[in-house]
Amino acid sequence: MLCLGVETSCDESALALVHDGELAVELVRSQADAHALFGGVVPELASREHYRAMGPLYDALLRAAEGKGLRLGENCRIDCIAAARGPGLLGSLLVGVSFAKALALALGVPVLGVNHLHAHLLASGLEHQPPFLAAGPDHGPALGLLASGGHTHLYRINGPDDFILMGRSIDDAAGEAFDKFGKAMGFDYPAGQRIDVLAGRGRVDRKMFPCPYLENDNLDFSFSGLKTAAVSYLAAHGDLLGGCVKEISSLPAGELAGLPMGEAELRLADVCASFNFAVARTLKVKSGRALERCRADGAPAKALVLAGGVAANSAVRTAMRELADEWNLPFMAPSFQLCTDNAAMIAYSGWLLHRKGLRHGLDFSVIPRGRNVPRDYTVG
Ligand code: KG4
Ligand code: ZN
Repeated sequence: MLCLGVETSCDESALALVHDGELAVELVRSQADAHALFGGVVPELASREHYRAMGPLYDALLRAAEGKGLRLGENCRIDCIAAARGPGLLGSLLVGVSFAKALALALGVPVLGVNHLHAHLLASGLEHQPPFLAAGPDHGPALGLLASGGHTHLYRINGPDDFILMGRSIDDAAGEAFDKFGKAMGFDYPAGQRIDVLAGRGRVDRKMFPCPYLENDNLDFSFSGLKTAAVSYLAAHGDLLGGCVKEISSLPAGELAGLPMGEAELRLADVCASFNFAVARTLKVKSGRALERCRADGAPAKALVLAGGVAANSAVRTAMRELADEWNLPFMAPSFQLCTDNAAMIAYSGWLLHRKGLRHGLDFSVIPRGRNVPRDYTVG
């Protein structure tokens, strides 16, 4: 069965084809350059860019599929179309969902709306079998941590359409804290990767920043205090932002690893390493408490899943892998290209949901940021 996935929740226009649970082709067109000028995503601009991208991207996808021997309408056909329906930027979602609905009508195939947050966590299923899809004694829930630019959510995942929210960010999400801290250093949006590469040149000072919001017994996160502490640290150490910071902020993040650095730049790298540490440790501690909660509830997690853009962070990945090892659980984090927004995760989620017999009518709605995505499938 072949599922087309459409992703336009934020500033990535993406299409992908998943064939019998395997990724066949995917294309992503990032708008990051258009938004970098403004220091963050501009919703109106995002919708227009998606609108411009969608048609040519679909043509390019068909050509790429042909290159892999899939000639749509000749030796194969699309069986269902899945579109990210939210949470996200309303105008952007409308472009992708309208495209998906129109194409579904034209091809005479069903269309499904996919929860973008759940799709991030399901994506690792393209690379490893998650326990909630396993049969027999291996079957069971997974604990999922989604850490992205807009969300820091902890879920117990019982199945592709059965996610129980255990904790969430009450203010800034982890990625947002990275981006705002980066902005204070003059880094373009999104700043997470640049901070992470710089952190690789620095040493961690565990006392530099607090690990926020751990003195409580809930599973929620709050990163706004950490962001303020980091921005205040920069303000109090003005000398850190001299030197070659301009060069650091303009070089592609990947090239920073080899940049010659003076004393001030290396101290800035220490600040980034310490920030990375505080975020990673906080995520690890709360995820550990969530694993304890699952066990106490009689539904112990059988795997630890990490997803979202911040899952690309080296300290976060290491900390979460350590946690999985401490609990003797498989650690499932998607490869880097599946961590950030993509359509492979949407096509794969659509394939899983369609296989379960879940359906949407053409009237399903899009869901803006901050609102819950309803579980309003029908079984067909
Ligand atoms: O999941 P995502 O691509 O988009 C959504 O927010 O849905 O996540 C983007 C976020 C941005 O805040 C970006 O700065 C962060 O992920 N990010 C990172 C890294 N790579 C991307 N944060 C820390 N370290 C990284 N290596
Ligand atoms: Zn996302």
